[in-house]
Amino acid sequence: MLEKIPRIKLANLPTPLDELKRLGNKYGFKKLLIKRDDLTGFAGGGNKARKLEYDFADIIRGGYDVVLTAGGIQSNHARMTAAAACKLGLDVKLVLGGPDFKKYEGNLLLDILFGAEIRYLVNDDANDHLTFEMNKWAEELKNENRNPFIHPIGGSTGLGALGYVKAMQEISKQLDDSKVQIIMAVGSCGTFAGSILGAKMFLPEARIIGVSVSRTSEAITQRTKEIILESSEILKQKISLDEIDIECYDEYFVEYGLITPEGKKAILECANLEGILLDPIYTGKAMAGIIDLVQKKTIDPDITTIFLHTGGLPILFSFESEFNELAKCKKFYDNVW
Ligand SMILES: Cc1ncc(COP(=O)(O)O)c(C=O)c1O
Repeated sequence: MLEKIPRIKLANLPTPLDELKRLGNKYGFKKLLIKRDDLTGFAGGGNKARKLEYDFADIIRGGYDVVLTAGGIQSNHARMTAAAACKLGLDVKLVLGGPDFKKYEGNLLLDILFGAEIRYLVNDDANDHLTFEMNKWAEELKNENRNPFIHPIGGSTGLGALGYVKAMQEISKQLDDSKVQIIMAVGSCGTFAGSILGAKMFLPEARIIGVSVSRTSEAITQRTKEIILESSEILKQKISLDEIDIECYDEYFVEYGLITPEGKKAILECANLEGILLDPIYTGKAMAGIIDLVQKKTIDPDITTIFLHTGGLPILFSFESEFNELAKCKKFYDNVW
């Protein structure tokens, strides 16, 4: 059934499954792997490309002429939705929110390059406020005889989550041993939900573990189950939620959008030991979670562990002030050669 669901090609797939040897050795892992979904390629890469392949097939089929979505100031989802809209010849409107800003940097800069029109809620990134504004804007567009499509925050729908059902199929083909633990950052829950459902179908021995960047474990469990149900209905899969264990940790963030000391350390270790770039809001926290969970023995270092790198690199460029004290840079003026 999965193969029958329409999708358009946005991502370069399969993404590599590589080993993090030096980082793995440091923390005692027998095998620590990285699934490079930061390398999905389209518009700077990241997990959202897999979801948007399904969502935009639906948007095109529905004959919409403008796409609206919403998120925080550095939303990767907003950036990738804007890029997909460009590729498919649609207009894009973004409702973003967060602290006031002086510079267009990181994803916000890319949103502009992709021609997005933005309404910005200063000092407010509450999901219901962003959604309210987005719905209001869609009504205005309808009154102008436009046909707007509202893409929810994070793009986490049952349809989009199929991107991660398919990703689990992809990983199953890349592995020799299917007894693995796969760990990822969790925001709006679509990636996590798709991965759990996909693992049930293609990697039944896998343990899927989420690291929250914004919500409590209870809230994540509830939303993840809703998305799993939606996706399984699309796939006409009979699924009993009682059989599904949702394992998600919510102690690795303080507030959405803020960097943590542990996340910062994980970013630096990954960069220095592996040449791999993580971001402060999502993947840095997921890696901090992996490091802590193995030290606490919540995860077994003898089982092959896969870090799902979900992207987010543009965000790093908006956190320059967190790292510039590390610069080893000497300036030379007025050189005479
Ligand atoms: C880089 C990155 N990683 C992880 C996530 C979390 O994915 P989801 O919203 O599907 O839970 C996001 C979502 O915005 C993201 O941008």
